[in-house]
Amino acid sequence: MSEGGGPPPAVRHRKKSAGDGGPRQNRKSKFSSGAGTGGSSPSVAQQHQMWARVVLMVAIAAIVYFTTFRTREKKFATQREVLELRSQPLDCSRAYLEEISKFAGCIPAQCGRFVSDKIVSTAEAGILLDLARAGFEHGQSSGGASILDLHSGALSQGTQFVNIYRLPEARRVFTTQHINVYRHVKEKVRQAVADHFRLSVDGLHLTHPTFFSRLTNGTAKTIHDEYWHPHVDKETYSSFHYTTLLYLTDYGKDFTGGRFVFIDSEGKHNRTNVYIEPRRARVSGFTSGAENMHHVEQVTGGIRFAITISFTCDPEHAMGDPKMTLEQDDGENGGVPDDINQTVP
Ligand SMILES: *[C@@H]1O[C@H](CO)[C@@H](O)[C@H](O)[C@H]1NC(C)=O
Ligand SMILES: *[C@@H]1O[C@H](CO)[C@@H](O)[C@H](O)[C@H]1NC(C)=O
Ligand SMILES: *[C@@H]1O[C@H](CO)[C@@H](O)[C@H](O)[C@H]1NC(C)=O
Repeated sequence: MSEGGGPPPAVRHRKKSAGDGGPRQNRKSKFSSGAGTGGSSPSVAQQHQMWARVVLMVAIAAIVYFTTFRTREKKFATQREVLELRSQPLDCSRAYLEEISKFAGCIPAQCGRFVSDKIVSTAEAGILLDLARAGFEHGQSSGGASILDLHSGALSQGTQFVNIYRLPEARRVFTTQHINVYRHVKEKVRQAVADHFRLSVDGLHLTHPTFFSRLTNGTAKTIHDEYWHPHVDKETYSSFHYTTLLYLTDYGKDFTGGRFVFIDSEGKHNRTNVYIEPRRARVSGFTSGAENMHHVEQVTGGIRFAITISFTCDPEHAMGDPKMTLEQDDGENGGVPDDINQTVP
C-alpha cells in the first residue's frame, strides 16, 4: 500500500536462483564433452547410461537446491474460513521494542499478528464498501491503486490527488449512516487491537494515514500505484505502532491476486510467505515493526477494496475523527489541510 525501500526480496530471490542455474549447466556440459572425448565412439547403451547419469545428477542438484533454499508458503487465513481469532506471536524487532518501550500502557504483551472475522459484521463492511464506491466515483488513479483518506480528504485523481471535500459535485456524497458506521467500526478495531496485544485502549490513538484503497490490475503510472513492494510499516510511516486492515471484498470472488503476504525470513535463504486471503469484513492486525515485513500481491483481475486503519502510541501523532461533509464546515477549508500532496499515504 506504499512505496517500500530497497529491491523487493522476491526479485532478489529470483535472481539468485537464476544465477545458481548457471554453474549447474556448466557442470553438465563439461561432463558430456569429457565423456565424448573418451576413445572410440560409445555404444548406444553407453550413451543411454551416460545421459541417465546426467539427468540424475541434475535432479539431485535441483532437489538439494530447492529443499535448502526454497520459499515456503503458509496460509494464515483462507477466504473460505470464518475465523473467531487466529494469531501468531512473534519476537518484536529490536528497534520496535526500543521505541515502544517509551509508551507505558501501549507495549504489546508480545509482538505478532492476528486475523478475525468476528470484529466487524458483513453488514457494516457492506456499508463501508458502499462508502468507498461512492467516494471513488469522484476520483481514481490512472494506475492500479487509488486511495481515499476521509481525514485529510485526499482522493486519487489521475496521477495526482484532489481534496474530495473541495469538489462541489462530491457534496453530500457520504451519508450519516456512512459516517456513523465508519466511526463505530474504527472504535471496534481499536478495542480489538488493545485486547489482543493487552494494551490500555486509552493509550492507543488513530493516526495518519488511515485510508480506503481500491486496487486493480491497471498498469502503474506513479510510485503511488506500486503497492506490491515488500516493506515494514514502521519504516514507511514512523508514527505507526499497530497496523490493521479491514477487507471489504472477497479474494477469488470479487478479485483475483491481491493476497496479503507476510515475509518471514530466517537468514538469507530461508523464507516463508504467510498468506492472508481477503474476505469481506475480515480484520487483520499486527505490530508495525520489522517482525511484520509484508506486501500485497498484484491484483490480476477485479477490484480489491480495503481500509488501512493505523494506530500510534504517541499522543503527538494522534488524529481525530474525519469531518466528512461540507455542511459541518469548520473554517474556510472545512477543517481539511491545504496541501493535500503533503498528506497522502
Ligand atoms: C527455516 O526457518 C524456520 C523458522 O522460520 C526453521 O524452523 C527452519 O528450521 C529453518 N530451516 C533451515 C534450513 O534453516
Ligand atoms: C485485468 O482485469 C480485467 C477484469 O477486471 C480483465 O478483464 C483483464 O483481462 C485483466 N488484464 C490483465 C492484463 O490481466
Ligand atoms: C499536487 O502536486 C501537483 C504537482 O506535483 C500539483 O499539480 C497539484 O495541484 C497539487 N495538488 C494540490 C491539491 O495542491
